Amino acid sequence: MTNESFEVLITAEQIEERVKELAKEISEDYKEKKPLLIGVLKGAVVFLSDLIREIDVSLEIDFMAVSSYGSDTASSGIVRIQKDLDQSIKDKDILIVEDILDTGLTLSYLFENLRSRQPNSIKVVTLLDKPERRRVEFKANYCGFEIPDRFVVGYGLDFDEKYRNLNDICILDA
Ligand code: IMP
Ligand code: MG
Repeated sequence: MTNESFEVLITAEQIEERVKELAKEISEDYKEKKPLLIGVLKGAVVFLSDLIREIDVSLEIDFMAVSSYGSDTASSGIVRIQKDLDQSIKDKDILIVEDILDTGLTLSYLFENLRSRQPNSIKVVTLLDKPERRRVEFKANYCGFEIPDRFVVGYGLDFDEKYRNLNDICILDA
């Protein structure tokens, strides 16, 4: 038995349409380049896999896993790298692909960490942004949807590792 209930916030169709728009913008901005898209595990996996198939420039992908300590829904503020890249990113054009920008702690840490490795350029695409929750200033270069301060699951996003396989993005009322 579970007391968890869902309310659809963004449908699979809306996501599909927005992913295509983002991919078009990214393809235009990187048409002279060969970007390395870095997916932030695990949440960004679904978004990254849909996004890359809509981008029509030559690209590479890699992954990093980072976590804030604890499995709390509120980020603790301490970020730890659990899986690093397989390669040097010196002189490369980096596009970090994230599922959601919340307090900003994860992305600001990751951004600075990758920037110190001397890429040629570095930008961020996030599918979702909860601007109300920001604890450190951080702005993504590309953003799918701004959403209210609610906990969401689906399309890669989890609650306690569950619900990543939902096609819609849903508000979870646990
Ligand atoms: P930040 O460091 O607070 O910006 O948090 C980023 C990470 O927290 C995301 O990559 C998600 O893994 C997780 N997160 C934040 N908000 C949500 C949510 O509403 N649903 C699922 N995961 C979330
Ligand atoms: Mg994440």
